[in-house]
Parts: sequence; structure tokens; C-alpha cells
Amino acid sequence: MLRCDIITLFPDLIQPVLGQSMLKRAQEKGLLEARVHNLRDYTEGRHLVADDTPYGGGAGMVMKAEPVFRAVEALRRQHGESGASLRLLLPSPQGRPFTQRLAEEFRDERRRLVFVCGHYEGIDERVRIGLEPEEVSVGDYVLTGGELPALVMIDAAVRLIPGVLGDPESAERDSFAESLLDYPHYTRPAELRGLPVPEVLLSGNHEAIRLWRRKEALRSTYWKRPDLLQDRSLTDEDRRLIEEIVEEGTREASFAKRLS
Ligand code: ADE
Repeated sequence: MLRCDIITLFPDLIQPVLGQSMLKRAQEKGLLEARVHNLRDYTEGRHLVADDTPYGGGAGMVMKAEPVFRAVEALRRQHGESGASLRLLLPSPQGRPFTQRLAEEFRDERRRLVFVCGHYEGIDERVRIGLEPEEVSVGDYVLTGGELPALVMIDAAVRLIPGVLGDPESAERDSFAESLLDYPHYTRPAELRGLPVPEVLLSGNHEAIRLWRRKEALRSTYWKRPDLLQDRSLTDEDRRLIEEIVEEGTREASFAKRLS
């Protein structure tokens, strides 16, 4: 069971995603518990102010620190004052890159994952200094807030929980589970707009199909993400398949081969 809390000024950004598809099913099956906390509920005064102008001047607004402290403290009171039962996360472009490895780590995490979603131009630095959250980035680009990254991370972790995907093997077979890109998939009809399904997939020959899939995963990886092949050890079979791929010519020629 993955337990997470999302502290946000925009609960309506989060709720619809949690209410659909796999994330919904995971909650129904008791494999995911996701609670959304409205940061507005932790603001001070009558005006429920969550942001303010930056000290030192400049454009944009800065998210206030006090409501975040209060929200986190409320969770700590609920789940153990020491905070040892919480893993505090701050989605941020300055963070450690989120990867499949970290998704696996989140899946296995016993503590609650608490995502603090920043917004506006930034978040008062005292959130970092005072609460020492782990910063995690979903990529080298800047989004408007931490909500979409939090959902990305939850989604990537939840689908690795046994029982979430229909087929228990699909997560293991994943592209990236072993740092290779995926092989191509086909479903009916056997011919569509003049485009046939590769014959081997209709052959019923399981070993030939396994080998074809392996080769096509290697082909994609070799041409689209060669960096992924750098840091993995290859089996003799993989090496042989890559030699074939190289012999099949340029990227264009190689992908044309895939269709024949
Ligand atoms: N918040 C804004 N941009 C982000 C990113 N790339 N990753 C994580 N959180 C973010």
C-alpha cells in the first residue's frame, strides 16, 4: 500500500486525476491511499493569503512558508510527531532527477510520501531550510507548479505495485525496468490500411517472438537512446542482435527492416 499526501493550493488539479483509471482502481483495491490537503486551510487571517510579494523586489509572487509549516505539522501530529513516519518531498526543477529507480523506491517506501506543491514564482526559502524536504525534479524544464510532477511520480510508483496493472508481468517487462526501450505492440486487425502485423507475431512460435521483441527493443534503444546501452552489461545474445541491427544500415534503413 502506497500512502501519500499532497499539500496544494489547487486540489482541483489533483482530484480528477486520482478519480480516473489506474489511480482510481488502485485506491479501490486498497493499494493506494492518496489524501489531498488544501493549503488554503492552513493560511492565517480572514483573507486566506497564501502568497506575497518578494523581499528585494522583482516580478511575481512568492508562496508563503507559514501555511506549509502548519500543514506539515498537522500531518506530523496525525502520523507521529517525530516526522519519521513521513517522507517529505518538494517537486522542484532543482531536485534530484526522478527516474524508474526512484519510482521503485517510492513503491517500496513504508513512510507516507508527502508532496509539498510549490506555485507562483517560487516558495519562501524557509520551507527548504526549516523542513528540509527532498527536492525531486521530473525533468529539465519549468512547470507552473508541483502538482503535475507529484501526480507523475505517484502514477509511476503506483503502477509498479503488484495488482495495479491487470497483468503482473507488464511492469517487469517494462521499458526502463531494465533500461531498454519498449518493443512495438500490435493488436487486431492483422492488416490495417495496407500495413501488416509482422508475420512472426502471428506465427505462434514463442521463441521466435521473444527474439524478435528483444531485437526490436534493442533497435529502438540503439537508435533512439544509445546512452541507455552505455551503462548496462549486454548478454552474448544482445551483442549478436546489435551486430545485426548495425549491419541493417542507417537509422531509416534499420526501422524499415522492422516492418518487413
Ligand atoms: N516544479 C516546476 N517545475 C518542475 C519540474 N521540472 N520538476 C518538478 N517540480 C517542478
